[in-house]
Order: sequence, then structure tokens, then C-alpha cells
Amino acid sequence: MSDIRTNYENWYAGEEYYWGTQPASFCDELIKLRPFPKAKKVLDIGCGEGKDAVYMATKGYSVSAFDITENGIIKTKKLADKMGVSIDAFVADINTFEIDDTYDIVYSTGTVQYLFDENKEAFFKKIDKLTNVNGIAFFNVFVDKPFLQLPPDWDIEEKMWKSGELFKYLSDWKFHWIDEIVFEDNSGGIPHFHCMDSIICEKMK
Ligand SMILES: C[S@@+](CC[C@H](N)C(=O)[O-])C[C@H]1O[C@@H](n2cnc3c(N)ncnc32)[C@H](O)[C@@H]1O
Repeated sequence: MSDIRTNYENWYAGEEYYWGTQPASFCDELIKLRPFPKAKKVLDIGCGEGKDAVYMATKGYSVSAFDITENGIIKTKKLADKMGVSIDAFVADINTFEIDDTYDIVYSTGTVQYLFDENKEAFFKKIDKLTNVNGIAFFNVFVDKPFLQLPPDWDIEEKMWKSGELFKYLSDWKFHWIDEIVFEDNSGGIPHFHCMDSIICEKMK
């Protein structure tokens, strides 16, 4: 098992939710753009312990979610049970997953940095294939800036993206919102800065 996977398995092993159970703010943005029941199906790539996937399920969507960790998937199912919803949650690797289905909302937060360089193109082809026409996607990636140092807890298996690179892979889609921010973080106990690119976009054809 890779180190990064072992780390996440350990972080997710306890009863506590490592990332908490509050959904990320972008979930409500996606819901506003594609409300249920007009949009029905959602895919969360790298769902962790399921806080966002479960939130989307509570809003009525039929949600599929995967993560590389078994403990993350167990916690996702537990949270879904607690909230009285069911989710199709399974273990898969962002580099190799195969899904024979299509979705109205596809998203991934904090996970695309685990894509190997050689898989980026194929990954976004898969995203195109599994998103319905007029479906929307959200992604964010950590990007490299010459004025920022590598974060102290950055793992060798995480890959910094180039500024703007994410937008290039989705350039055939309609951009609803793009953003690049520099923000302070204290993960690992040492204050440091990250730069992150984010996008919400729509598949047009
Ligand atoms: C920063 S966490 C974000 C989790 C979740 N999206 C959230 O916001 O709570 C990154 C997640 O990526 C998962 N991950 C790491 N490498 C992966 C891979 N190759 N394939 C799928 N998931 C992976 C980790 O297990 C972890 O749950």
C-alpha cells in the first residue's frame, strides 16, 4: 500500500470525522446551478469520509462516490446511514477507475493532485464521457507558484499543477466560474500558504 493511502487509512480509522461532517460550500453552488429533481445523479471523486457526497444525497440526488481508502468508504456509508440516505460508495483509484454510467453533477475536491501526470488527459476524457450534456463539474487543484514554498506536509505522491493547467483540460466546456486564490493553512502544525485553482464548468455537447 502506498504511504499516502496508509496515512489516509489511519486518519480515517477512528470514530471522529477527520474532515468533519459539514459539506464544502461549493455543494450549494452546484445545487443552485443544477437543482434536484431536474438533475438527478452525482459523482464525488475522492470522497474521503463522505461529508459532501452524503450532503448531496440528503438533497435528493442519487449519489455515487469513491475514494482510494477502505476506511473512507466505510465512514461514508456510516454517515449516509446516520443521515437516513443511501449512497453507492466504493473503493477506486482516480488513476485507474472505470465507471459505465453518466451523471448530471461531477466533482472532486482536494484529490486531483493524486493524478499521475501521464493520466491527466485520460482522466478528463473520462470526465467528459461520464458527464451528461449540460451537466456540470467542479474541480480544484493545488498549483505551483514561484513565490510559494512546498507545504511542509506535502507528500511525494501529491503533484503540484501549473497555474491555469486545470482550465486547459476543460477548455471545450463552458466556464461558469473560475478562481485562483492564495490562502494560509496550518496543516501539519506549521503555518504555510497554498495556491489553488478551482472551476465550475458545463459540458455543452
Ligand atoms: C484532502 S482529502 C479530500 C477528501 C474529500 N474530498 C473531502 O473534501 O472531505 C483527499 C482524498 O483523496 C483520496 N485519494 C488519495 N489518492 C487517491 C487516489 N489515487 N484515488 C482516489 N482517491 C485518492 C484520499 O484518500 C483522501 O480521501
